[in-house]
Amino acid sequence: MPHRLNEITVGGRTIRWRETDPRSTTADRLSLLVLLHAFPLSAAMWEAQSDAFPGWRVIAPDIRGFRGPDGPAVQQPGEPTMQELATDVEHVLDSLGVPQAVIGGLSMGGYLTFALFRQAPARFKGLVLANTRASADSDEAKEGRRKMRALVERGGPAAVADDMLPKLLGATTRQDKPEVARHVRSLIEANSAEAIKGAIGAMMTRTDARPILAEIACPTLILAGEEDALIPVTAAEEMHRGIRDSQLVMLPRCGHLANLEQPDAFNAALGRFLRNQA
Ligand code: MLT
Repeated sequence: MPHRLNEITVGGRTIRWRETDPRSTTADRLSLLVLLHAFPLSAAMWEAQSDAFPGWRVIAPDIRGFRGPDGPAVQQPGEPTMQELATDVEHVLDSLGVPQAVIGGLSMGGYLTFALFRQAPARFKGLVLANTRASADSDEAKEGRRKMRALVERGGPAAVADDMLPKLLGATTRQDKPEVARHVRSLIEANSAEAIKGAIGAMMTRTDARPILAEIACPTLILAGEEDALIPVTAAEEMHRGIRDSQLVMLPRCGHLANLEQPDAFNAALGRFLRNQA
């Protein structure tokens, strides 16, 4: 898919993103769609979305420390908070000179979308929440994060891929689409243990976004996978109840990584939503 890598340096730190190659579109005026990736993948997971929406320029930042299989080496992330990661996204928007965009993310990308909304609600022309939840980590989830951190220290990204793949992909994908499992594994293994540990810390200390759901007044699309074993559809229903006039789309035969498992259905739902925002 036609895309290019772009970057800015802020305070000595480089922030990279993938974006639609402008030569691949015939539209003369483009609206901006920002897509934030899941844990522990990278912006490369949005390849099938990069030129799927005529008239839209798609920007997909690599969250601090993460990189795609074809990306250059990256600085290690340290221990950022979710709000600091949101500031990275703001730097990208500032560098593009774009005051407003449709902004969304999948799973961890959704947590980051909420963090960005918390600090910069005026940036949002529209909001997309895929396979994510508004609530913060429960004590049980935090315990799971500590185990994941120990696993990545012991076994590196490959051990994380072994552990997570059966949960990331729905039963249908695991049975019928082995190429998707291979692709997701390659995305996970392109990352460093430090990037994965940095994101674990940011996720387990993130703030509960349920109290801000009622403040979201921009058009909002919520997508959920019927076979999502990591974030149940009840989490999508909770966001749908809390966000005024939001649209909820349930994707059948789809697990946690909706855009990779059912790209046609995902793009059709997102495309319909974007046509009303352009
Ligand atoms: C993700 O897909 O981003 C993660 O599964 C989110 C999480 O672990 O909470």
